[in-house]
Amino acid sequence: ENEKLLSGRKVIVTAGGTIERIDPVRYITNDSSGKMGFAIAKVAQEMGAEVHLIAANTSAELPSGILLERVQSAEDMYDAVLRQWEACDMVVMAAAVADYRPREVAQTKIKKKESNITLELVKNVDILESLGRSKKHQFLVGFAAETENLETYAIDKLERKNCDLIAANDVTVEGAGFGADHNAVQIYDRSGMVERIPVQSKEEVARKLLTLAAGRMGGVLH
Ligand code: PMT
Repeated sequence: ENEKLLSGRKVIVTAGGTIERIDPVRYITNDSSGKMGFAIAKVAQEMGAEVHLIAANTSAELPSGILLERVQSAEDMYDAVLRQWEACDMVVMAAAVADYRPREVAQTKIKKKESNITLELVKNVDILESLGRSKKHQFLVGFAAETENLETYAIDKLERKNCDLIAANDVTVEGAGFGADHNAVQIYDRSGMVERIPVQSKEEVARKLLTLAAGRMGGVLH
C-alpha cells in the first residue's frame, strides 16, 4: 500500500564514511558501513522514487539496480550532491561525513621520523547545513549519530541544518548503529518527536522513515 508513495520523486541518498586523505597510502575515515544508506536507497526505489545514491567508503554489499556514484572525501560528496540538487525532491544524508580533513595532503608517503608529528585538521564543509540554507522545494532528511544527549543534540542539528526530519541515532545501542544490520532511531520534526523506532532491520527503519517523509512532502510532482 505504501509502495508507490515516492512515484515521480527524485531522491538523493548518501551513504558510507568519507575518506580524508593524509598521503597516498593513508587516510582518515569512520565506522560507517553504508548499510543504512543502501537500505534507504533500496526502499526509496521500491517506493517508486528515482534514486541517485552517492556513496563514500563502504563495506556493505552494494544494492543492485540502483544508480551509484562513488566519492571519497566530504568535498567530493558535496560536489556530487550539488550536481543533482536543483532537480531533486528529497535528500537523505545517511553518510557519515568527516567534520575535519588534514590541512595538507602529502603528495608522497610521509616518512617516519625520530620525533612525534602533528596532523593538523581543518573543518570540512557541512553538506546538510549548506543544503538547508539553499533549499527551496527540496525535503531534507538528516541523521544525528550521537553517543550522549540524543534528543538535545538531534533537535539542535535539525534546527541548525534546517532539516524537515531528523533520525536521531543512539549509536551506543547494542546491535544498532555503525556497521550493524539493525538500527534504532527516534525521528523528530520541527514540533518534536514523531516516531520512536526500536531496534529492527535497517530496511524496516528505512521504510518507516521514508513513509513519514513521503507523507510530509509537498509540491507538485514532476
Ligand atoms: O553506514 P552504517 O554502518 O549503516 O551506519 C549508519 C550510520 C550510523 C552512519 C547512520 O545511521 C548515521 O547516523 N549517519 C549520520 C552520521 C553522521 O555523520 O552524523 P552527524 O551527527 O555527525 O551529522 C549530522 C548530519 O549532518 C548527518 O545527516 C550527516 O550526514 C550530515 N553532515 C555531517 C557533517 C558534515 N560535514 N556534513 C554533513 O552533511
